[in-house]
Amino acid sequence: MDAIKFPFTGKGGRRRLANPFGRRAAPPEMLVPDIPASAILEYPVQIALIDLDRVNGNTSLLEQAIILSLAKALNAATVFEIGTFDGWSAANLALNLGSSAKIVTIDLPAQDIGAAKLPLGKYDIQYIMKETSGAKSRDMKNVVQLYGDSATYDFSPWFGQCDLVFVDACHEYEYVRNDSEIALKLVRPGGTVLWHDYGTVFPGVARALNEFYRSDRRFRSLSHIRGTSLCVCRMDPPET
Ligand SMILES: C[S@@+](CC[C@H](N)C(=O)[O-])C[C@H]1O[C@@H](n2cnc3c(N)ncnc32)[C@H](O)[C@@H]1O
Repeated sequence: MDAIKFPFTGKGGRRRLANPFGRRAAPPEMLVPDIPASAILEYPVQIALIDLDRVNGNTSLLEQAIILSLAKALNAATVFEIGTFDGWSAANLALNLGSSAKIVTIDLPAQDIGAAKLPLGKYDIQYIMKETSGAKSRDMKNVVQLYGDSATYDFSPWFGQCDLVFVDACHEYEYVRNDSEIALKLVRPGGTVLWHDYGTVFPGVARALNEFYRSDRRFRSLSHIRGTSLCVCRMDPPET
């Protein structure tokens, strides 16, 4: 979703702009150091997009271009996305990485919203409550759609298998912590993890990533990509 657009809420036909930080509260501090996209990419970049019909809930076009360019630069064979939504990113990844790559993506089905183990944010509900997960990626042969709650799903078959993991599901602090821990298990040594929505209307993302950066050595190379809400971390191979 847009870094600067607050979700709309409204009752009885009236629409008002909701500030999830609270009326007087300042946006969260951003402790993760900034890098330009050129620090992780070589230019020029070349990407393909399945369409330009971006909707609220997707990444921005710039963020999508960075995700796809990075996946291509890594020559990713297996990508795992936590939070499918309409499947725009999954389908774009599938298109750019080709038929030999596998894109695995998980989403919480709307009918299971009541079974989520950890607290869901009120601004996450709109992205969960949709007719189907992965509407745009379901016909792509190299996309594997999984359904479940990231707090209870058994991810173990993909542990250590993924070249790139994209964390973009529930934006509450507890879920971001949970999903980040899963991402670190999914990624292969030397692989890369991306997060969306750092420094946006979702304070839980900034709180969790700030904490990881400040106090957890596994996240020592965590960086925020300037001009976007993406954070990136290359997970070091084990020291020999
Ligand atoms: C912001 S959207 C993801 C956007 C998508 N990654 C893209 O690039 O277009 C967040 C998604 O996370 C899913 N989600 C929220 N909580 C979840 C949970 N506990 N487990 C799995 N998926 C969850 C929602 O259903 C929603 O589809």
